[in-house]
Amino acid sequence: MKRNLIIGAALFFTGLLANAQTTITLKDKSSEGQIIPKEIYGQFSEHLGSCIYGGLWVGPESDIPNQDGYRLDVLNALKELKVPVMRWPGGCFADDYHWRDGVGPQEQRTKISNNNWGGTLEDNSFGTHEFLNLCEILGCEPYISGNVGSGTPAEMAQWVEYMTSDSNSTVADERRKNGREKPWDVKYFGVGNEAWGCGGNMTPEYYSSVFRRYATYLRDYNPNHGLYKIASGASDTNYKWTQTCMDAIGKHMQAIAVHYYTCQGWDGSKGSATSFTPQEYYWCLKKAIDIEPCVKRHIAIMDAVDPKGRIDLLVDEWGTWFDEEPGSTPGHLYQQNTMRDAMVAALSLNIFHKYTRRIKMTNIAQVVNVLQSMILTKGNQMVLTPTYHVYEMYKVHQDAEFIPLDLKTGEVGMDKSMVPAISATASRKDGVVNVALANPSLDRKQTVLLSWESLKSTKGVSLKNARVLTSKNVQDYNDFGQEPKVAPKAFKDFKVTKEGVEIVLPACSIVTFAL
Ligand code: AHR
Repeated sequence: MKRNLIIGAALFFTGLLANAQTTITLKDKSSEGQIIPKEIYGQFSEHLGSCIYGGLWVGPESDIPNQDGYRLDVLNALKELKVPVMRWPGGCFADDYHWRDGVGPQEQRTKISNNNWGGTLEDNSFGTHEFLNLCEILGCEPYISGNVGSGTPAEMAQWVEYMTSDSNSTVADERRKNGREKPWDVKYFGVGNEAWGCGGNMTPEYYSSVFRRYATYLRDYNPNHGLYKIASGASDTNYKWTQTCMDAIGKHMQAIAVHYYTCQGWDGSKGSATSFTPQEYYWCLKKAIDIEPCVKRHIAIMDAVDPKGRIDLLVDEWGTWFDEEPGSTPGHLYQQNTMRDAMVAALSLNIFHKYTRRIKMTNIAQVVNVLQSMILTKGNQMVLTPTYHVYEMYKVHQDAEFIPLDLKTGEVGMDKSMVPAISATASRKDGVVNVALANPSLDRKQTVLLSWESLKSTKGVSLKNARVLTSKNVQDYNDFGQEPKVAPKAFKDFKVTKEGVEIVLPACSIVTFAL
């Protein structure tokens, strides 16, 4: 009760700070062919908690309906998202993973202790074949993270050969013997993960040399494209890491991947995923949008070393990181997902779109049952999280032309945690302009006037497929066995005027539509 009163009072005061009117002009005449690569909508799956086992994979003998061992409900939900790329097997797990443990007859696979994540027994029943076949079913590109920390260059080189060579080498024949005749199409390959931490506690100088050594033996077997080698990049604002790798690795890599989590701190409490104050809500959004100055600075460093933009920046882990749900297995990073997470997803994607000249892929952590998931499962039940719905509403932006916009808005928030009153993005594909607007205010609706540079008359202008994602309470989440509390609904609160389109966004909402 007391907590509710505090929340109520706090909301009243933030309301007073809110700016009620926003104008957005789509600079559709000035867009310069900048494409939002579909890989911005990438996913990440790690051998961590129930992401793989119970989340993606239940095995062919399971009572849970499955297709060759992959849970059908999860498969179908992911197909809806048009997942473009999936990273695997880690994460920290990658630098402890020896790929031969996970190929060959199931009964002969090596059992190990997953030392990064709770010491859980890993029976390796999900390995290279199971992952790459999953990608083929989903129609997504695989992104493999190789083991630098505890593996050898030969082990990594042979993994690439095993997956992608069509020769009659012993390694390629080993794959055939294990049931796969043709090589898989693997393009993205990470040379280690978090080399500054769980991937070997290296310095950037040392890692750069290690990268060059390992990458030398990763051959191109696919006649259609080379292997796209990804260096393990900085955590957040470790600009020295980026500078050193750019200087020292240079042409040996195709991309460098930073990690950025919206997390209150690495030691101690990270806060509850579902029970939080307005202050914590705005703090979280502010931390999420602080990724913008962070990537800008990484990009500036890259621009100076690589002005032609040959090397890409990836954000191959990002998202919210809260305390594990009470009662869940320690070390499994299982957290629920509310409208707050949806807002973080929308604000982050809006930022990523802006920097797609350099940022070519992002992978939210993680796809099922870990951190800011798309999907949660419990036994044979599944729920789609609010974050899932943002990805579904935003999928129209995949491979679309980015439209810059002129946004005039105020700020909302509390204390030092102020964020723009409206966040927006727009893109064009096949003659259709898709717009997404987010109103982060907990208590104030926002009126937005949307117009566009090429606008001569609004006659005949209409909004199609307008939807809104919001909920009664920002702490609402979708739970097992209950009607979903957070799901997109048809949106009607807009009108076409002479000046453009006037849209009224409810408090704490995300609205998407086509023009
Ligand atoms: O996503 C969870 C963990 O976060 C990953 O394994 C690691 O790379 C990062 O520290």
